[in-house]
Amino acid sequence: MATKSARRAQLESAALYPLDWLEERSGLVGGMKYFLFRKVPRDSGWFHTLGSATLTAFLVQAITGVVLAMYYKPDPDKAYQSIQFITNDLTLGWLVRGMHRWGASVFIILMFFHMARVFLFGAYKYPRELNWIIGVLLLAMGMLEGFTGYLLPWDQTAYWATVVGINLNGTMPVVGPFLAQFLSGGAEIGSDTLSKFYSLHMLVIPGAIFGLIGLHLYLVMRLGVTSPPWSSEAAGRERTEAPAPTDGREGLVRPVGRGASE
Ligand code: HEM
Repeated sequence: MATKSARRAQLESAALYPLDWLEERSGLVGGMKYFLFRKVPRDSGWFHTLGSATLTAFLVQAITGVVLAMYYKPDPDKAYQSIQFITNDLTLGWLVRGMHRWGASVFIILMFFHMARVFLFGAYKYPRELNWIIGVLLLAMGMLEGFTGYLLPWDQTAYWATVVGINLNGTMPVVGPFLAQFLSGGAEIGSDTLSKFYSLHMLVIPGAIFGLIGLHLYLVMRLGVTSPPWSSEAAGRERTEAPAPTDGREGLVRPVGRGASE
């Protein structure tokens, strides 16, 4: 019995060695443990999972998008054929393309559900205003992903939907004509438009979304999540009692600005 547990301990330390090695040199394991095992309000529930659901939808878009980018050709003479190839000839191509196409709507719908939960829980109030603003930027970026991605199949629907979209933007006061000129990349929608939309769709906007999500989650960790409106800890409710002592793992209970005295 004793030898068995000694062997087990030996196996365990061998299995954990890579993690210990990483932790000693980076502190990343501790950071991940802090992130995964931080405290959340006891009455948080399914509504609080909408942010992670949105994140999952975005990651599915990123992974399926990388696979599509391996076969898609952003050239007016080849784009439509490359999409036909992905759908009809590539092994499981129809599935990856279908997931990306439907997943785009799922991502936007989940983002709206998450935003509605944040709004109804009053989670946009002090001290989380900045996270709301980052959320608004994420929403705008998500919509732009939809707009730029729609052109890529280069079929009739894609082409004319983009004509309508660019013309709509063109009607904006002052900046409209410049924006329309920038988006179409020339006098008409053609190869310059397609490569511009492709670059925006698979490099620029996803990069911005990754960065913004990083900031968003940092603030969620720093500030903690908001309790539901039916809780005594709900956002914006006046508290008379002194806050309970904390170990700081549930986010900041009473945030203070840099240099402000507590
Ligand atoms: C790519 C899109 C987004 C992702 C991946 C995302 C992810 C998350 C996650 C994981 C959380 C913590 C858990 C939760 O409360 O659900 C959160 C919280 C929050 N999100 Fe988002 N979010 C996104 C878009 C938005 C949008 C569009 C808004 C509003 C305009 C927003 C505003 C907030 C706020 C204010 C919080 C703090 C909530 C609280 O303290 O209870 N987010 N987000």
